[in-house]
Amino acid sequence: MSKKATAVAPSNLAFIKYWGRKDEELFLPANGSVSVALDGMKTTTTVEFSDDFTTDSVTLNGLLLEGFGLARVVKHLDRIRDLAQIGQKVRVVTNNSFPTGTGLSTSASGFAALTMAACAAVGLELSSKELSILARKSSSGSACRSIPDGFSEWYDGDSSETSYAESFLPADYWDLSFVVAVVSDKPKHVPSTVGHASAQTSPFFETRRSLMPGRIEKTKELLKKKDFTALGELVEAEALELHTIMLTQKPALIYWSPGTVVLMQTCQKWREEGEIEAYFSLNTGQDMYFMVRSKDEAKLVSMLEQTGIVKEIIINHPGKGAVLSDDHLF
Ligand code: PMV
Repeated sequence: MSKKATAVAPSNLAFIKYWGRKDEELFLPANGSVSVALDGMKTTTTVEFSDDFTTDSVTLNGLLLEGFGLARVVKHLDRIRDLAQIGQKVRVVTNNSFPTGTGLSTSASGFAALTMAACAAVGLELSSKELSILARKSSSGSACRSIPDGFSEWYDGDSSETSYAESFLPADYWDLSFVVAVVSDKPKHVPSTVGHASAQTSPFFETRRSLMPGRIEKTKELLKKKDFTALGELVEAEALELHTIMLTQKPALIYWSPGTVVLMQTCQKWREEGEIEAYFSLNTGQDMYFMVRSKDEAKLVSMLEQTGIVKEIIINHPGKGAVLSDDHLF
């Protein structure tokens, strides 16, 4: 007998970032984080378990995965096979609507969609909290934040059951735009999951960690007050602090490309000169996010186009979390 299901999950942007783990086995993050689900960048994944399959196969964006990429997916599927007590091999087909491995959190949307689709395929009925916990255990912890809707907090927790993401404000709460500038579609050289493992080698790591509980509260407060300027300043400073840790951990991680640096400087200049109030963020890759009030979205897009260094622009707003779909990919 075969079992098939499809899920669609959004990418998410962390205002307060997850970097480093306090438990490598359980994938407990060193600190909590706060994020927003994005409506313009999604992964669609179809999973089928069948007695007819003799091996596990995973096709990502039309290419069969091998090596590390395949192993991390199969390890997560094994977790779900154990829960469902089945041994059937699996076929997975997954497509990202946006560039893969360039810092736009395809692994978050990817593992959230995989978790939801695989659980539905085997008939496991899990709550949003349980799905978030399971998605966290994939090699991409931030996948737990691609399960809930809108604005979410991921609690660092002190056990597997207490570390999950839940929504604290709905997607339609605030008219914000998150415009992504693709600087290059070249995939990163070091996966985030490898970077997390040596985050604590930065001499600044413990200082950052001690500041996080207060910063998370502040972020939620600014969101609740809709204080755009204070939130933007905090989000941009947080992204730069994340990269300060990466640049000072061993081995140092340099994810920027020349275009990334130009766009960071350009964004600050736009604000200083009163042209547009945009704030940037970035993760483990060269591609960047710009946060503006939605009324400024079209102007920002045109200004980014005029820089001449942006290859693609993707417009996002706060969006829904992961959902099941009847549109199977095979
Ligand atoms: O969840 P991972 O292992 O893909 O790591 C995500 C790390 C950052 O994107 C840099 C930060 C974050 O919280 O999204």
